[in-house]
Amino acid sequence: MAQDSDLMQKIVSLCKRRGFVFQSSEIYGGLKSAYDYGPLGVELKRNIMSAWWRDMVHRREDVVGIDASIIMHPKVWEASGHLAGFSDPLVDCHICKERFRADKAPTAAEGDALVLEYADKARAQTALELIKERYAIELQRDGKTLKGATAGTRGYVCPNCKSPWLSDERQFNLMFRSSIGPVDPLGAVAAAVERGDFAGLGGRELRAKIEEITKESAVYLRPETAQAMFVQFLNVQQSMAMKVPFGIAQMGKSFRNEITVEHFIFRSCEFEQMEMEFFCEPGTDDEWMTYWSEARIAWWQKFSNDPSKFRLRPHEKSELAHYAKGCFDVEYLYPWGWGELEGIANRTDYDLKKHAEHSGAKISYFDPEAQKRFVPYVIEPAAGATRGLLVYLVDAYTEEAVPDAKGEDATRVVLKLHPQLAPIKVAVLPLVKKNGMPEKAREVVDQFFRRGISARYDEQHAIGKRYRRHDEIGTPWCLTIDGQTLEDGTLTIRDRDTMQQRRISVADAVSEIEGLLRD
Ligand code: GAP
Repeated sequence: MAQDSDLMQKIVSLCKRRGFVFQSSEIYGGLKSAYDYGPLGVELKRNIMSAWWRDMVHRREDVVGIDASIIMHPKVWEASGHLAGFSDPLVDCHICKERFRADKAPTAAEGDALVLEYADKARAQTALELIKERYAIELQRDGKTLKGATAGTRGYVCPNCKSPWLSDERQFNLMFRSSIGPVDPLGAVAAAVERGDFAGLGGRELRAKIEEITKESAVYLRPETAQAMFVQFLNVQQSMAMKVPFGIAQMGKSFRNEITVEHFIFRSCEFEQMEMEFFCEPGTDDEWMTYWSEARIAWWQKFSNDPSKFRLRPHEKSELAHYAKGCFDVEYLYPWGWGELEGIANRTDYDLKKHAEHSGAKISYFDPEAQKRFVPYVIEPAAGATRGLLVYLVDAYTEEAVPDAKGEDATRVVLKLHPQLAPIKVAVLPLVKKNGMPEKAREVVDQFFRRGISARYDEQHAIGKRYRRHDEIGTPWCLTIDGQTLEDGTLTIRDRDTMQQRRISVADAVSEIEGLLRD
């Protein structure tokens, strides 16, 4: 476990040091769970998303893309059920004050003996006294731990201190709310207070009244990209003359007011999704579900070093969303254990029917060959792009014992990113900063720029140090210009993973790299 958190710390530190991911608004103390992608992070994220778009849209005849507004008509969220049901069951620990999701807490059966754990002896002593005072229960303190408590009927305990003394579960809407139009919602509430509209109201009634006033101008930042594909089903199908089965893909930002934020960028409030809604004839949905589940796990594995760390997990009946007929998660073995990377759900005809019901539009499909009309079923592969970025960083991070230039023991940190995902594809390095080498190296790097291949000219520090720097950011190939280059027109190409070098002609450098980058 210590090793696992070490690995995450190393990745977080590398991300900051080398310009992959920074904490948002860091100079102001940071904003919890918001992150900025730096010069290398934005390249990696775009490369993942471009590869997804290429494989899901450009390489298929049966999928087209859209790019919809982030703010949609608020009725979309009423129809989709997000306004009513998009919430997490939240609980507060009465002892350590941790707020956590009940469905993610460690389980404990009634009567199980518990060992409560605190950061230090003082905190353990405070907790001991609080429990005695509030619940008249005397536990035994042993250093930073408290013994003698047992689990109650809740079925879970606090993930931070293991206490069974918890608040009731509360539902919390995860959608970010804003307002649109000329009416200032706070002004409207203030005017209502002045008029005395709230006199005598309290609790739920007061809240409902305020809700009624502010509802007129309320809009929401989308919590998933998916709904636009249902709402635009008819426009896309008709404008592109698509025949069922076909898919609509979209990638972009989604927003959730996540209360429990975890593991760096794994769960954040602003993140990017890559989703596709695949519309098919009812009755063919099981087959498509199998097809897309297998296709999606294979896609993630294609870019990884260790495919065994990905698995498909079918959802238990109790885990399924009320509208879903079935669901598979593509899971990854993160440093803290298995967790979700993508969900592939059979959403049946639920969404199209709900939007038809709430909007009044007639949403269905007429099959001209079979001469029949039906409401398509939907298979939805829904992936996290920013979560994918974390997965590939974990997958790529490697430490190797390699002697340094003086022959002493040293550690080489390598990001073994798939070349198609690597932020910089090739570094062009003059061996020394003289004898015409920098000029020749500039000529070589220019050839890459002209082809639109992400390349870097780098002359700072000794050559060994430059190789290590590019290993650490995942640059798959370094091209070195040396004395021989000026004599016979060849350069060395060094492979990041094997560190092997060979000579190729300068004239062939671009086509060589293009060949290596091909699928
Ligand atoms: N349309 C279905 C949908 O949105 P989801 O399982 O809630 O399903 C799909 O989200 C994917 O989006 C997840 O598998 C995960 O990779 C990513 N995701 C969801 N919430 C996230 C968050 N708060 N931070 C980062 N990624 C998130």
